[in-house]
Amino acid sequence: MHSHKKMQHSLSALYSWGVQQLRQVKIESPEKNARDLLMIPSHLSPIRLLTDPDLGIPAATAEKFRRDIRRRARHVPLQYLLGTEWFWGLPLRVGSGVLIPRPETELIIAQVKRFYPDGKFSGHVADLGTGSGNIALALGREYPRAKIIGVDISATALQWARRNKRLLKIRNVKFLHGDADHAISKQLYGGFSLVVSNPPYIPRRDIRRLQAEVQFEPRVALDGGQDGLRIIRKMLGAAGCLLHTGGLFILEVGIHQAPGVVDLMRRAKFKVLGAVEDWQQIPRILIGCKTKETKIKDGK
Ligand SMILES: C[S@@+](CC[C@H](N)C(=O)[O-])C[C@H]1O[C@@H](n2cnc3c(N)ncnc32)[C@H](O)[C@@H]1O
Repeated sequence: MHSHKKMQHSLSALYSWGVQQLRQVKIESPEKNARDLLMIPSHLSPIRLLTDPDLGIPAATAEKFRRDIRRRARHVPLQYLLGTEWFWGLPLRVGSGVLIPRPETELIIAQVKRFYPDGKFSGHVADLGTGSGNIALALGREYPRAKIIGVDISATALQWARRNKRLLKIRNVKFLHGDADHAISKQLYGGFSLVVSNPPYIPRRDIRRLQAEVQFEPRVALDGGQDGLRIIRKMLGAAGCLLHTGGLFILEVGIHQAPGVVDLMRRAKFKVLGAVEDWQQIPRILIGCKTKETKIKDGK
């Protein structure tokens, strides 16, 4: 009995058990998932699986690993179990109630840097639908003199964003709770140099066809209404109000959406400066510039 228990707690035995559990339910990359769940929380290098297979793992750690593997086998996202996702070199805390930042969203930061190569940029920036705060905080790190506001309609998402701000000690970012087109004081309208947004853009009927893992993420972070463009229209309207003439709107869109959104931008009299593809050749990021003719809600 004693030796059996000891076996169960060896690094390699735990790892093999984890891989097997995940493989049985066809989780993609079971080895990577088991390795991350076993090694990262214990701060062990993956190489120890090769060099120290018999390393004894404390019972509490082993128990947590087994619990995590069972949850992962039910498709709970790996990042929720690890509690962290990396974005633009920043470790962001994530968990239930907030979208996990995606790598393609880093293209927004890359585009901002193309337009503002100087780290001394000190304008006002709004991040509409800030989620974990990933975009706002990455920009806060890149531009310590900029004044950045992140807005989100989800109070839970904002708790994650504020926690990330505290942990990363980024002081020039403020988070506001509310709807993107109401939360920011009208007194600031026309004063923003840059509005960025990765809005919810999945057409409602497509959500249930997405990966099982995505179903654990908040609906409000995914659901773009019937045609997927409901919140994009809202963000475009808000950007029109917030930006000064010549200010930039940098927006992430979903697959097949770019032509329709370019059209919406042109109809609102934004000048479209470009579309940037991700590594699957999907036009992912649209860049618009507010002009003197840009239509503004309420005739403002
Ligand atoms: C696709 S997620 C993006 C989160 C984060 N910016 C990122 O890149 O990972 C969209 C975010 O928009 C928020 N949201 C949805 N509708 C909104 C609205 N009307 N006003 C403000 N935020 C909204 C959601 O709560 C969610 O956090």
